[in-house]
Amino acid sequence: MKKAWMTIISQTNIARNIYEMTLEGELVDLMSSPGQFVHIRVTEGFDTLLRRPISISCIDKENRQCKITYRAEGKGTMLLALKQPGEKLDVLGPLGNGFTVDELQRGDHALIVGGGIGVPPLLELTKQLNRRGVSTTHVLGFQSKEDVFYKNEFAYFGDTYVATVDGTYGTEGFVTNVLEEIQPPFTTLFACGPTPMLGALENLYPDKNVYLSLEERMGCGIGACFACVCHLQNDPEGYSYKKVCTDGPVFRAGEVVL
Ligand SMILES: Cc1cc2nc3c(=O)[nH]c(=O)nc-3n(C[C@H](O)[C@H](O)[C@H](O)COP(=O)(O)OP(=O)(O)OC[C@H]3O[C@@H](n4cnc5c(N)ncnc54)[C@H](O)[C@@H]3O)c2cc1C
Ligand code: FES
Repeated sequence: MKKAWMTIISQTNIARNIYEMTLEGELVDLMSSPGQFVHIRVTEGFDTLLRRPISISCIDKENRQCKITYRAEGKGTMLLALKQPGEKLDVLGPLGNGFTVDELQRGDHALIVGGGIGVPPLLELTKQLNRRGVSTTHVLGFQSKEDVFYKNEFAYFGDTYVATVDGTYGTEGFVTNVLEEIQPPFTTLFACGPTPMLGALENLYPDKNVYLSLEERMGCGIGACFACVCHLQNDPEGYSYKKVCTDGPVFRAGEVVL
């Protein structure tokens, strides 16, 4: 982990309030596992003093570039969306423990489930799994047609299904409606998205190998401030905890309280 200035190479609006930004810099040399994130200082200003954690959605070591994909909704991310190519960003990273890909071998089948702004880190994941000879099925959930992004990018790597809550694109409803419909064969499930979606997947597949990427509000991002603490499922007293920033953001299903 290192703090460095990265150069903005491109900034593109790819869906409703969703932006994809390409960054270049030496920090990319340190990036490895999908699901890791960077912690971005959006401005020097006092009102956006805290960094914003954003997942790495694509790693391109050859060109020392990476992509982040974010939803512009609060003060910091809206300021991020105004940045132009050529500007520099103060970035801390890569942070956190991402998805483990080396447990899966050629011939294994992984199910990848993303919800909304949880979709981005799964793109680098499917890329790395397919590079290992693992086949992948993807199920992506969004609110509406205008919110759908990366469908074609995932389809390049394997079967890809989309659910929208209002039924304007793909299957009407949640990712779980698609899963009931297609009953995909898989050995390992990887998921990132809203907590209720992660909880539903944990309950749906109690006997499978399931990895979930969690989101918590963060302060430091490096284990020092305790802002991102979550409790363990096997600790009824509630004294034990894990920090999402340094122990996660990826956990095995059943490990922490969702
Ligand atoms: C490990 C991890 C990976 C993430 N990856 C992505 C991603 O790839 N794309 C994306 O769009 N979003 C991602 N998020 C959520 C993103 O960090 C927040 O949406 C963002 O920080 C909100 O900032 P804001 O300026 O829009 O909102 P504001 O309301 O201005 O933020 C105020 C403060 O709250 C924190 N905060 C607010 N919401 C969240 C949240 N949901 N999670 C963590 N901190 C929050 C902010 O960091 C900031 O310090 C991720 C969060 C975590 C923890
Ligand atoms: S964000 Fe500070 S301990 Fe995790």
